[in-house]
This record gives sequence, C-alpha cells and structure tokens, in this order.
Amino acid sequence: MSELLLLNGPNLGILGRREPSVYGTDTLADIADMVADEVADRGWKVTSVQRESEGELITAIQDNYDTVGAIVNPGALMIAGWSLRDALASYPRPWIEVHLSNVWAREQFRHESVIAPLASGVVVGMGALGYRLAARALLAMV
Ligand code: DQA
Repeated sequence: MSELLLLNGPNLGILGRREPSVYGTDTLADIADMVADEVADRGWKVTSVQRESEGELITAIQDNYDTVGAIVNPGALMIAGWSLRDALASYPRPWIEVHLSNVWAREQFRHESVIAPLASGVVVGMGALGYRLAARALLAMV
C-alpha cells in the first residue's frame, strides 16, 4: 500500500480552535480525512504527522522516504526553518507546501518561505481546501 506523508508543523495540532477566523474550523483530523478521501481511488493511504518541534519534523521526513509524496505545512518554520529545509532537500519524492491562510496578505514576516524554492508547488490562502488541492496535484505528478 502506498502512503502519502501529510506533515504539519508547530501549532497546527490545535486547528479548529486556533484563531478560527484565520485558520478555519476544520481540525487536523478533518484535514487528514479530506486528503485520504482525495487519494483513496489511487489506493494511497495517508500518514499524518504533526510535531511542535523542528527536530521531530526532520525525523518524520527521514523516516518516510518511502512515501509517494508529501504535503507540508511548516507553520512558522517557513520563516527560518533551515534544518527543515535541508531535510526536505533530501526527501526523494515530490512535495507541496500548503498554508491555510494567505500569508502574503498578513504580516511582513510571513512573506518569506525558506522551503518554498524546493517545493514542487505551493498552495496558499485556500483554507483546508488547499490540502485537497495539494493532494490532487500530487496525484497528477506521481
Ligand atoms: C500557516 C501560516 C504561518 O505563517 C503560521 O505561522 C502558521 C500557519 C498557515 O497554514 O496559514 O502556523 O502556515
């Protein structure tokens, strides 16, 4: 069975009750279900990992090189997560960066992503739908 890696960084485990006006009301479990629904016809399952620390996210990437592709929301690690960036550089499959909110419409410090230049694509500002769109993109790429 093929597995898609759904990787979420700091503060994304509390989606649903984290600033719902910014991030929506879907929980991370809801999002994992949505992604699983998108890829089910291809026979893919979803390995969903959320961690608060960069090191644990890196370990999750290294432990999942055999996945078909990944959807990555790095949270605020987009800004200066250089070790996360290096871990993703070694991930051997396509991966898509997702942000629920439109980071470009927010504070200046959210306008740079150190991981975006390595991503196969980036989905921003589409809320939970962005994860579905990223899953569809991976289906088309893999
Ligand atoms: C986020 C945007 C980041 O700037 C923020 O730090 C997050 C969530 C998003 O999904 O919109 O934690 O990645």
